[in-house]
Amino acid sequence: MKTNNFAGRDWIDGELDYSKEEWETLIDLALHLKREFAMGKDQSYILKGKTLFSMFFNQSLRTRSTFAAGIQQLGGFYNELDPGKTYTPARVGYEVPYKTERVCDVARMLDRVGNAIAIRMYGPPAHWIYGFANTMIKDFADNAGIPLINMECDMYHPCQALADMITVKEKFGGFKGVNLTMSWAYSGSFEKPRAVPQSVVLAATKMGMNVTLAHPKGFDLDPNVIQHCKQFSNETGGSFKITNDFDQGFEGAHVVYPKSWGTASCFNYTDATGKIVKKADHADAESKFNKNKKWRTSTKQMALTAKGGIYMHCLPADRGQEVDDDVIDGPQSVVIDEAENRLHAQKAIMALIMGGRF
Ligand code: CP
Repeated sequence: MKTNNFAGRDWIDGELDYSKEEWETLIDLALHLKREFAMGKDQSYILKGKTLFSMFFNQSLRTRSTFAAGIQQLGGFYNELDPGKTYTPARVGYEVPYKTERVCDVARMLDRVGNAIAIRMYGPPAHWIYGFANTMIKDFADNAGIPLINMECDMYHPCQALADMITVKEKFGGFKGVNLTMSWAYSGSFEKPRAVPQSVVLAATKMGMNVTLAHPKGFDLDPNVIQHCKQFSNETGGSFKITNDFDQGFEGAHVVYPKSWGTASCFNYTDATGKIVKKADHADAESKFNKNKKWRTSTKQMALTAKGGIYMHCLPADRGQEVDDDVIDGPQSVVIDEAENRLHAQKAIMALIMGGRF
């Protein structure tokens, strides 16, 4: 297995920075590690003695548990640095004496003693500034020689997207001709980031699927993401379209992925100097959410999908708001397979970028 293209690289904007062939290598390795794990094979030689530092600025079940289990199954150590108990890493201009520590100092220190740093940050810890967290992870990467892993920022969740592509490959054998719809869904909270939908539509177009993005007016994704989706689908011979009709997203889909995300008005926007040029309007976000409570997946929508169509969700799902119980617990739901694949996806990422032995 060729691995020398991966060692030492960051996994921050994985959908943009890694080629289709590299995604295929990651998917193949994840499935290989999954099979070996099922057979009880020892994998502890792969990252023996290597340390992963994680920092969660937001809550997490799946990402936290699967990174912890994954690095330990590969023979490494998991060290969770709670940003509330360390001096909270802070970007220039956001420092508070004896409470925070500048990112460059944290990154250079951890670089001396560990082998990778994984970070989750979006929403309030990122001051609701769109792109703030993504920039902070890149600031870490600029100051640390060891790889940085994005465990979900305000723009991308590439670990989730890789697990999702693995799940699609398992269910359909490949990507060509598979229709995937990423749909907005109502939630009682407007705080869910755009990271999952943006990463999933990027990864799915990169892999050559026929992708539909469905959302009510006002829930548009980042225009830069949309531009890349169009470019990827042109390159791979897949397709990409956008609809504002909930039911239309389900019609003929092999994969439906209805989940909530925030409006553009959830965020502050800054110029190149970091000055806020457009302020968040959370009252506007809440009002847009409340007008679209009908975007909840029921068996009526699932009946519109193609034969063998599956329901995906990254979890946690807001039951009774994003989705009905009889869908998420029903025969078309693959959400637990998808969550399990987070483990295998991240083992493949860590094994390759942390210079694993094979
Ligand atoms: N899907 C996902 O990232 O789950 P957690 O928020 O529980 O980590």
